[in-house]
Amino acid sequence: MRSKVSVIGAGNVGATCAFGIAGKGYADVVLVDIVDGLPQGKGLDMLEAAPIISSDARIIGTNSYEDTAESDIVVITSGIPRKPGMSRDDLVLTNMKIVREVTQNVVRYSPECIIIVVCNPLDAMTQMALHVSRFSRFRVFGQSGVLDSARFRTFIARELDVSVEDVFACVLGGHGDTMVPVTRLCTVGGIPVSELLPKEKIDSLVSRTVNGGAEIVALLKTGSAFYAPGIAVAQMVDAIILDRKKILPCATLLEGEYGIDGAVVGVPVKLGKNGIEQIMEIKLTPDEASALKKSADAVRKVTKVMQI
Ligand code: LAC
Repeated sequence: MRSKVSVIGAGNVGATCAFGIAGKGYADVVLVDIVDGLPQGKGLDMLEAAPIISSDARIIGTNSYEDTAESDIVVITSGIPRKPGMSRDDLVLTNMKIVREVTQNVVRYSPECIIIVVCNPLDAMTQMALHVSRFSRFRVFGQSGVLDSARFRTFIARELDVSVEDVFACVLGGHGDTMVPVTRLCTVGGIPVSELLPKEKIDSLVSRTVNGGAEIVALLKTGSAFYAPGIAVAQMVDAIILDRKKILPCATLLEGEYGIDGAVVGVPVKLGKNGIEQIMEIKLTPDEASALKKSADAVRKVTKVMQI
């Protein structure tokens, strides 16, 4: 039997993510949006692509949460994206209301699901979905680290002219200006990146990674990135549906791990059929640990605005 994944929000991120999952063929996909015709049109378009991409997944678009009933995973992408000059945090008051209502509907129809949050400000929105759903923190988490790490991997691979597959990178912390690309853990074919690139170059790639979202917003002018964010979710869905036990950085509510309590920040976790199956606590240097704490404090500041 195929699994069922619902994607809430049929905008650019939602549609990219839904199409990425539909292409795998292991899950039927329900694309939901409030705009009449939008999810139906995109869903039908994807369904018509199915013979070409050899997928037997059923893909439907709908305006009704009833169709999401008994989903294994629900991805929440709803909310407005930022425009040039805005920070992700500027979206909190608008998107918190949307995420609150969406989560209520999701939980009503899929009380056993795993929720992956993608809308910004990511860490605060994940906290909101956790608060409303009352699910365990192992079943509600956010996508950001996979995207931020993919950006870092891309920049390193391009700089060294090597396959992206050979580059491992790990970006921790909140999905914002305080994110923590841990260069010490970055390797290329198993070789520490510090042996392949000078420090100044690595620092400039770190800075490009931290500003990666803003770089795309500045180019697009009308919205934010969606190919990489959408497909990053599809990789997390893969790990869960196929029970791959992959180690991926995910926005997770910490309860004492890394010396942080009560804030959602990105840390490496093991993702399998139960959602987060283990929070991987790696030993950080004092500088890395203090950067992670600083990032958690920045997340707390935004989360506080929601008064939950
Ligand atoms: C980004 C936005 C989507 O990082 O958060 O591109």
